[in-house]
Amino acid sequence: MVQPPIRLLIRGVACEPLSDSINPGEPRPPLRGASPETVKSSHATRGAAFQNVVSGTARRCWAVLGPASKWRANTPRWWPPGPTISRAAGFGPRWPRRSQACRTPSAWAMNGRGLTGAAAPKLLAVSDLHVGFPENRAIVADLRPESAGDWLLVAGDVGEIIGDIEWALRMLSERFAVVVWVPGNHELWTHRKDPVLLRGKPRYRHLVELCRSLGVITPEDPFPVWDGAGGPVTIAPLFVLYDYTFLPAGAATQAAGLARAHEAGVVCADEVMLHPDPYPSREAWCRARVETTARRLAALDPGAPTILVNHFPLVREPTRVLRYPEFALWCGTTATADWHVRFRAAAVVYGHLHIPRTTWHDGVRFEEVSWGYPREWRLRGAAPGPPRQILPDRGRVGC
Ligand SMILES: [Fe+2]
Ligand SMILES: [Fe+2]
Repeated sequence: MVQPPIRLLIRGVACEPLSDSINPGEPRPPLRGASPETVKSSHATRGAAFQNVVSGTARRCWAVLGPASKWRANTPRWWPPGPTISRAAGFGPRWPRRSQACRTPSAWAMNGRGLTGAAAPKLLAVSDLHVGFPENRAIVADLRPESAGDWLLVAGDVGEIIGDIEWALRMLSERFAVVVWVPGNHELWTHRKDPVLLRGKPRYRHLVELCRSLGVITPEDPFPVWDGAGGPVTIAPLFVLYDYTFLPAGAATQAAGLARAHEAGVVCADEVMLHPDPYPSREAWCRARVETTARRLAALDPGAPTILVNHFPLVREPTRVLRYPEFALWCGTTATADWHVRFRAAAVVYGHLHIPRTTWHDGVRFEEVSWGYPREWRLRGAAPGPPRQILPDRGRVGC
């Protein structure tokens, strides 16, 4: 028997921004099912609720964590790598060498995958697949490229359980010419139902090695170059996390912002599921990632345009429409505010907000490409569509 206070609290600690309404002018509704008294509960009580999430004893943990999968695909590789794909010499991921498929995507036509290659190859993007939900898993199972040369950018939150993540990325890597992945906060959770209980950086490294075994490109690998229509452009998968600097209105410091979020009952589940080991805090991990990543981006050819791919938005503006503005604390860092200009982005791809749309900042196209949870996309009136086309550029659309 689940006690009502726990059920309500877990609704109050949603792991995502509850973004089923993005109208910034709309009055902020109360958390569904929660009275003002219950969402303004004490820290101690909220800690108990988190424990119930982690232990799985709270019924509403389903909504927060998604169902744990006991199923893994056992589909044989139905397209063995052909002569145009080869593993980088010795160490590293398996993906087409630039001198082969990357340079001439049309060479991927007629490769035995049932695709004729008649359609021009596209650079596509998607995020927040959340395959722990059966509805989303079914859509992923049907996801196929239009062209044998299509690339797919996967901007995080594939799932929480390593087996689920592997299932999805394996399938996608067998279907798309190139798959590029960056971690979302959900991949970095240490979930009690996951046989892999690694935390923090060791978990991230484990995911990187998993991707490499599947031929999926990660933020730790050489940046690939898209030479298809709209290219050449360097694809830069990033992992820079967040550091609580997207402060809610009225909060002058991170501590004040977090206090405000706790008071409002809008606290990301990362606080107990995403461990920063060996760093002392998530913001320290973020700081290290920002420094390393900025150095790497600065070393690129200063004449080369980029596509920046990160789970979290690189600028603050897209978070202004969150229904619960306190959630912005877990959505990025102000340290990346000028990266789209500084590193010559032709486009920025991100997810996490579960508010799929296109926006423009300093003339740069920002694509939020998330699917989100079934309860969210049902409210939008349609199941997630095909991945978003990033290149070739379809012209100025969006807001
Ligand atoms: Fe997500
Ligand atoms: Fe996320």
